[in-house]
Amino acid sequence: MHPLRLSVALAALLPLLAAPGALRAQRAPAVGAQGMVTSAHELASEAGREILQQGGNAVDAAVATGLALAVVYPFAGNLGGGGFMLIHLADGRAVAIDYRETAPAAATRDMYLGADGQVLSGPQSSTVGWRASGIPGTVAGLALAQQKYGSGKVSWAAVVEPARRLAADGHRVSPGTAASLRHWAPLLAQFPESKRIYLKAGAYLAAGECWRQPELAATLARLQAQGPREFYEGETARRLAAAMAAHGGLVTRADLQGYRAVERTPLRGTYRGYEIVTMPPPSSGGIALLQMLGMLAPHDLAALGPASAEKYHLFTEVMRRAFRDRAEYLGDPDFVAVPTAGLLDPAYLTRRMQNYDPARATPSAGLAAGQPDGAAAPPAPRPAPRTESTETTHFSIVDAAGNAVANTYTLNGAFGSGVTVPGTGILLNNEMDDFTAKLGVKNMFGLIQGPANSIAPGKRPLSSMTPTFVLQRGQLLLVTGSPGGPTIINTVLEIITNVVDHGLPVMQAVEAPRVHHQWLPDVLTYEHQGMSPATADRLRQLGHTLRERDSYEGAYQGDGETILVEPRTGRRLGAADPRKPDARALGY
Ligand code: DON
Repeated sequence: MHPLRLSVALAALLPLLAAPGALRAQRAPAVGAQGMVTSAHELASEAGREILQQGGNAVDAAVATGLALAVVYPFAGNLGGGGFMLIHLADGRAVAIDYRETAPAAATRDMYLGADGQVLSGPQSSTVGWRASGIPGTVAGLALAQQKYGSGKVSWAAVVEPARRLAADGHRVSPGTAASLRHWAPLLAQFPESKRIYLKAGAYLAAGECWRQPELAATLARLQAQGPREFYEGETARRLAAAMAAHGGLVTRADLQGYRAVERTPLRGTYRGYEIVTMPPPSSGGIALLQMLGMLAPHDLAALGPASAEKYHLFTEVMRRAFRDRAEYLGDPDFVAVPTAGLLDPAYLTRRMQNYDPARATPSAGLAAGQPDGAAAPPAPRPAPRTESTETTHFSIVDAAGNAVANTYTLNGAFGSGVTVPGTGILLNNEMDDFTAKLGVKNMFGLIQGPANSIAPGKRPLSSMTPTFVLQRGQLLLVTGSPGGPTIINTVLEIITNVVDHGLPVMQAVEAPRVHHQWLPDVLTYEHQGMSPATADRLRQLGHTLRERDSYEGAYQGDGETILVEPRTGRRLGAADPRKPDARALGY
């Protein structure tokens, strides 16, 4: 071969050689001819599959899986949190159920600032203890989804039953859960009911031990017998509000009584001929995802390869710009005008990339928000910090008829605020930390946010959760999403482009190493062993600051529980993310 030809051929191979792990894995997905459930815990996947096999649809199964996760995956599964369920109906319709927590009536813009104007930490803060919780939305959201979009063949009581059974009869604690409970002991030990239940009063739950949760079982039995409003109006509400009042929390009976999940219209966009259906505000995820895909569209990603420095450079630059806009324009659409159309306008996205330099990183300092149509002039750029990840969880379901659910829900941090409501087994969220506590000050994910996301009674804090569907010629192709705070949006972007641009099989698309950039801090993070030294060096030469994710924030990014419906066969391929030890895809 001509030497030049040879070196060109070798150069073409380089991105592949530089991809440690990206293309190495050859694990097969789970295969289902009819239905598939993939979640962070095998027993929760089993609960969903059981409901599918009883004749329930994907929405019925999602309720069962969501409630089961509250029992077997307490660091993120929940009754005391909130989230988003995206539903694809076999007839092509799509709806989004927004069951995000809302700020209590007594909440105020500066409620997390001390007398000195500084952001409070410790028991009065937006992250730990009784004042950190928004009004929980999970029970209302799951119930609304089932009432409107369930099959009608499986009752509410039936979809609660697997969770109630797991709580009452107990389940074997997995090594993953045992380890995580120990890891989070410093948080849980601060609250007597949490210490008693989750830390066995300091003795700790051992892997393999049968763990019964009688208070949670009783709560689920009440919900089963009296219906979902019991959570907001019955004995559960009474206990929650009484404990809040006794400990300086803000959530009252009236707050609970007034909580409603709402239905929203999903965002739709296209990318290389595929249709993307995703979560609208109050999540920032859908808009940011569609912005990034729009900015990537003119570039030939396939030619760059899945793990080249050139690709990571481009990804960093689109992430930086989307997160800059997120900080400026996104908030609860019931409270602020979000310029959605302007942010997604292709002409705007072209303008947004005008200062993109393929040979040089754009410093975040000094990067102004874009000027989409419908927006007022943005204020000056704000200062910086760092990022970390805790817990949330995503699950994906496809049923035999072709309905699908992408559901991401959360307590926000692992074990939320750390508080368990006495006598209920319900852990409470610390979702109030997703609001802007103070302009220019980072939240627990290192996010700097704007006034659009300031605290107000009844308002929903801005989220990054991004449950998403990809359709091809009108047919459902991909059901995906992830936990990981702001990394969620980038994880979803990476899974989608791994399938669409790089042609990776679904399991490898989920396994492939991920990177993250969120404008501020101006740092590109990569996973443990997720990038070759040569690639990292090249990115530094381009002007990027890189950091390997450390164990404190999790060495791995996200948990992309994903299902691909194989176009040729219709088979449901379930890809449980290997980053979560208990994750499992179960089909039939
Ligand atoms: O809604 C949000 O964006 C955050 N509360 C999600 C938190 C999260 O994903 C933590 N997970 N790892």
